[in-house]
Amino acid sequence: MNLYYMKCIIIYNNIRIIRGVHLVAVESAFPRARVIPSDDVIGRHGFLEHLEERLYFGDSIMLAGPRRIGKTSIANEALRQLQKRGCLTLQLDLLHIVSIENFAIQVYKQIASLHTGKLQSAFHSLRDIVIWLSRSEWSLEYGDFRFNTKLPGDSTVEPLEALENAFELVEKVAKKRDKRLVFLLDEFQEVERIGGSSLLNALRTVFQHQENTTYLFLGSEPSLMKTIFADRRRAFYSFATMLHLPAIEVDEWETYTLKKLQKFNMTMDAQAIHVVFDITGGHPHGMMAALLNAFLIVKQENQPIINPSTVEMAVVQTLEQFDPIYEELWKHILPISKADQILIAIAFDEPPYRGQTPTYVKRAIDFLIKNSIIYRSSRGRYQFVEPLFKRWIIEKNG
Ligand SMILES: Nc1ncnc2c1ncn2[C@@H]1O[C@H](COP(=O)(O)OP(=O)(O)OP(=O)(O)O)[C@@H](O)[C@H]1O
Ligand SMILES: [Mg+2]
Repeated sequence: MNLYYMKCIIIYNNIRIIRGVHLVAVESAFPRARVIPSDDVIGRHGFLEHLEERLYFGDSIMLAGPRRIGKTSIANEALRQLQKRGCLTLQLDLLHIVSIENFAIQVYKQIASLHTGKLQSAFHSLRDIVIWLSRSEWSLEYGDFRFNTKLPGDSTVEPLEALENAFELVEKVAKKRDKRLVFLLDEFQEVERIGGSSLLNALRTVFQHQENTTYLFLGSEPSLMKTIFADRRRAFYSFATMLHLPAIEVDEWETYTLKKLQKFNMTMDAQAIHVVFDITGGHPHGMMAALLNAFLIVKQENQPIINPSTVEMAVVQTLEQFDPIYEELWKHILPISKADQILIAIAFDEPPYRGQTPTYVKRAIDFLIKNSIIYRSSRGRYQFVEPLFKRWIIEKNG
């Protein structure tokens, strides 16, 4: 076998074979705080199929949930599956959008990517886009398409009009190609900041006429998302079906973890997985962070197995790493009268109303729920969205 042929096999298998020893080439251990590849998407399979099916058949979806719960991960997996079914997919994170004009430019970049397969970086202004659109291939393909009243080369395009036209063009492309197009708009609650009610009204007016384009709206501020989609007075009232992201079960974590560790000739004590799950409450980001730390600890010690004591060390490390995040969260809570004391009481499983003025308690609890720090469980008790934060509070106040 010549060297070139061997290299091809090596690249194809994504594996390095050196003197008969199989080494995993680029294998991430436990991916944390980033968009995860398909193989690392754990559980939620029924939900994923349901989400995919609804989007495929033209139903727009709103999915809201606290930070780091897995919204973007599941949405990206849905898009990957939809692409396999022949859909066109686009996505935009509104967190980085600074103005309506910038929003329009980003949507045009997305449209351009449908043609080129990559995001055009040459667009810096609406004027660049007008020039780009006037190029013959676009005029030929989309015939009558123009910014409604402006001529190519005109530098005074209204940002809102440009944005409306951008979303109209999205639908035109989908129609022309006779495809379903699914557009993921992440951190959608940011529309309020970008353009307020008038932007929402304008988007709704365009979206409601679209047949081939469906939207997946994600939001990490559930209360704001609820207001946008459930308030009768708002433009997006009832526009999208609101779904709830289910939890990832402990046995799903177990299957994934064992399979992942096997790739590194490692394993994990079944009890140890349950310990991580209990401490993190199965919160995906906390789980991944703790598992990664446990993995690195045993790797460093050249041990083949993660046991409960490794997990304890890993949790301590995880809390140290999360400390700046939780400090910031705490600073956000402090200005709300009594909220810190009430949260400490909940962390220690004590009744939050004891010795407190009911109006303060109610106001503080409303704030904590609205900010996805706690939620009311089915048994009427308050629970932490992130049990690691509960542990952090206990350790600070223990
Ligand atoms: N289904 C999943 N399987 C495995 N890990 C997951 C899953 N969902 C989330 N995670 C883990 O949690 C991390 C955060 O997930 P993700 O970014 O999808 O959450 P999010 O809800 O979109 O967060 P944010 O509110 O910050 O946008 C991921 O990088 C990954 O480590
Ligand atoms: Mg996200």
